[in-house]
Amino acid sequence: MGYEAAFRIWRGDVDGGDLQDYTVEVNEGEVVLDILHRLQATQTPDLAVRWNCKAGKCGSCSAEVNGRPRLTCMTRMSVFDPDETVTVTPMRTFPIIRDLVTDVSFNYAKARQIPSFTPPADLAPGDYRMQQIDVQRSQEFRKCIECFLCQNVCHVVRDHEENKEAFAGPRFFIRLAELEMHPLDVADRGMPHRTRTDSGCAISRSAAPRCVRRTSTSPTTRSSR
Ligand code: FES
Repeated sequence: MGYEAAFRIWRGDVDGGDLQDYTVEVNEGEVVLDILHRLQATQTPDLAVRWNCKAGKCGSCSAEVNGRPRLTCMTRMSVFDPDETVTVTPMRTFPIIRDLVTDVSFNYAKARQIPSFTPPADLAPGDYRMQQIDVQRSQEFRKCIECFLCQNVCHVVRDHEENKEAFAGPRFFIRLAELEMHPLDVADRGMPHRTRTDSGCAISRSAAPRCVRRTSTSPTTRSSR
């Protein structure tokens, strides 16, 4: 059954802003992002909200709901008391663009500093195959949806302006770890655990060498990317 909920939402831009109060309809089964969309549709067409999937997959809708880091598309209204005022503010760690939308671009700038995938120089495309376990190891890192809420609650960046642009967020570490564990990558990215095999593959000491040079008897080949 529907009810009228009290919402308090931060409105503003880089020059400043304030919390503004709204009363908005809530229906059974809705999430906070539904309410933000209803506000856009009925009261505040200029409310800036970032979202894409509405399924907890894209990491776009990150915000602080009642002071806690939340994906607004995954935060059910049923977790709040109907009499409770729900306060939605942008992620504090990142610079404000407008309303609930923040600028996370320095995460992407930082990730671009990582040297790209580098196979052995004498290895031609199609001249090797990867085991499924190597594919799975790389894909493990892709499970992070890069909502950046972990950075939002890290006081090292949240409360220290001087650290924000230099801080290597999840996008940086995911990319770095994925490449460092790639069985065919030979780039030296300054990680101390790297070693090399006679085949030219660079691997972590904890990982068994699984990259296989193609031979005339190799049943299959697969690209590493
Ligand atoms: Fe994609 Fe919320 S809209 S995670």
